[in-house]
Amino acid sequence: MMLKLRIRARYACKNDVTLKLGDCRPLLRQLPDESVKLIVTSPPYNLGKAYEQKRKLDSYTAEQADIIAECVRVLRKDGSLCWQVGNCVSLRGQILPLDIHFHRIFADCGLHLRNRIVWQFEHGLHARRRFSGRHETILWYTKGDSYTFNLDAVRVPQKYPGKKAYKGPGKGRYSGNPNGKNPGDVWAIPNVKANHPEKTVHPCQFPIELVERLVLALSDPGDLVVDPFVGVGTTLLAAVLHGRRAAGADIMKEYVAIARQRLAQAERATLKRRPLGTPIYIPPPNSGLLIRRAPSTER
Ligand SMILES: C[S@@+](CC[C@H](N)C(=O)[O-])C[C@H]1O[C@@H](n2cnc3c(N)ncnc32)[C@H](O)[C@@H]1O
Repeated sequence: MMLKLRIRARYACKNDVTLKLGDCRPLLRQLPDESVKLIVTSPPYNLGKAYEQKRKLDSYTAEQADIIAECVRVLRKDGSLCWQVGNCVSLRGQILPLDIHFHRIFADCGLHLRNRIVWQFEHGLHARRRFSGRHETILWYTKGDSYTFNLDAVRVPQKYPGKKAYKGPGKGRYSGNPNGKNPGDVWAIPNVKANHPEKTVHPCQFPIELVERLVLALSDPGDLVVDPFVGVGTTLLAAVLHGRRAAGADIMKEYVAIARQRLAQAERATLKRRPLGTPIYIPPPNSGLLIRRAPSTER
């Protein structure tokens, strides 16, 4: 089925997508109180990437706290906020896991932490003086205790699907849910590097499938999903592909232009993507070793 999207730069409830070039705060200020079901974002990490200036931690935190306060204002009572972050690295190579830092800000806003999801992936810089970083985290908060959680929409295959209980009152019945299991809080999803089908010029774009799982579990069709740091539009795509409305902003003209192109591709059903649930490639044993290890002769 072809998508036909009403895309505008100024927010209106009837827009399918609101996509604004510029700082996210003016966009957030256009949104009514408690109008957003889900906020999913990956903020700048204060690493000095092309789109940011590395700043003192206090100044970075103050700006983020300001934006988070607006996010909390627009979040519905049954809504969720997912903040995806990695590490900030100091000049002398010490790391600061940003989720530790951010948690205090969210807790001060009265949000309730539901999961700290570990996103595990294979590609990235090869460290020489520590283990290479191969995970980031997603902090999932809700505004209240009554919130949307559509577990059935995101179940994954059971490891042993036909396994039955061999004793007890359930003897002979399936021991797990035949519709699949809860995906857990460690998600192995390839990051967008090199040959990933979704790769654009953005240095830190996240994969559509990562956001799709959050959109499906934490919102319903017709709900509004917002990404204040929208980059090349990944959150917008994950939202509209599943019948949600979406809004986002980015300060970089080039990224907003790419987000528009990707939305147009989604409308024409030509968007390149790695579908949710695609199995992870597992190389055959020892195939990654150029120098094969001789079998040990030690006893
Ligand atoms: C980690 S990237 C997000 C990438 C995005 N998740 C994607 O998949 O494309 C952070 C983005 O925030 C943007 N940005 C930085 N400060 C901003 C601000 N004050 N308002 C809006 N966007 C901002 C940057 O240009 C960058 O694209």
